[in-house]
Amino acid sequence: MIKAVMGRVIQTRKRIKETVSLRRVPAIPCDCHALIDRNRLDIENILSSETARQMWLADEPDLSRIFPGINMKGGINPGDRRAIYFLIRYLRPGSVLEVGTHIGSSTIHIAAALRSLKHEFQAPPFVFNTVDRYDVNDELARHWVRFDARFSPAKMIEKLGCDGFVSFINQDSFRYLEQCQTKYDFIFLDGSHAAASVYREIPAALQLLNNGGCILLHDYFPDLKPLWSNGKIIPGPYLAVARLRAEGNDIDALPMGQLPWETKLGSKVSSLALLYKK
Ligand SMILES: C[S@@+](CC[C@H](N)C(=O)[O-])C[C@H]1O[C@@H](n2cnc3c(N)ncnc32)[C@H](O)[C@@H]1O
Repeated sequence: MIKAVMGRVIQTRKRIKETVSLRRVPAIPCDCHALIDRNRLDIENILSSETARQMWLADEPDLSRIFPGINMKGGINPGDRRAIYFLIRYLRPGSVLEVGTHIGSSTIHIAAALRSLKHEFQAPPFVFNTVDRYDVNDELARHWVRFDARFSPAKMIEKLGCDGFVSFINQDSFRYLEQCQTKYDFIFLDGSHAAASVYREIPAALQLLNNGGCILLHDYFPDLKPLWSNGKIIPGPYLAVARLRAEGNDIDALPMGQLPWETKLGSKVSSLALLYKK
């Protein structure tokens, strides 16, 4: 009982702190014209694709051999990894940007989905850039070992045979997004989860989006309600989108909701959400 009350107090304080620091950021213009339309996003259809399921069954043993972790700290959970694989298969992006490489949990699933598309459609070469503010592949620091991963993200990409189209970029997201000359079809924002950061990253990412492109957020808690039994919320991504909406931008988030498979804590709920043009 005391633990539950304490938990709620901590969550409320976190939300207030985030709201206050978000208010300090001056309004940023946000051009949403390139974003995907809502009617292209039929989540149920995307996740029930039989072709994607077949490809997943073929790729999954490879992925779990190099990345056996069920719930490695900081990496996205197994259900979300699979959902991203299905999303990439459905959207067939030619160019992908990920912000927040960390231990490469999402990176290798995006790469494997692109690899499967490459085999199936003999598609032109993909571009997949993944950005983190620390050097995720540093052989001296071996940061991944602290998270029980067996290999660095770059090593895993090499083992998947995807090193020909995946690049690791060691830079702060804002700097990268500001200077980048590449345009992307799919951008996954999973770096800083602070509301003020996500609020700055979304308009910058939109500038780099090809027409009809997609931006995927992680840790989106609709209406700031807990998604799992642990009662926790990460308020940043929701607060950032809520502010962009309140400022009259034609943008909204579509939470992926219940997946057909388990995510974490015995639940099938995902915190992934796709941004779309209203
Ligand atoms: C939640 S982890 C990403 C998890 C990763 N997608 C995975 O599945 O393994 C967040 C990562 O974003 C990075 N990050 C946080 N703020 C950043 C920023 N402003 N620019 C670049 N990277 C950032 C952190 O260093 C951390 O590695």
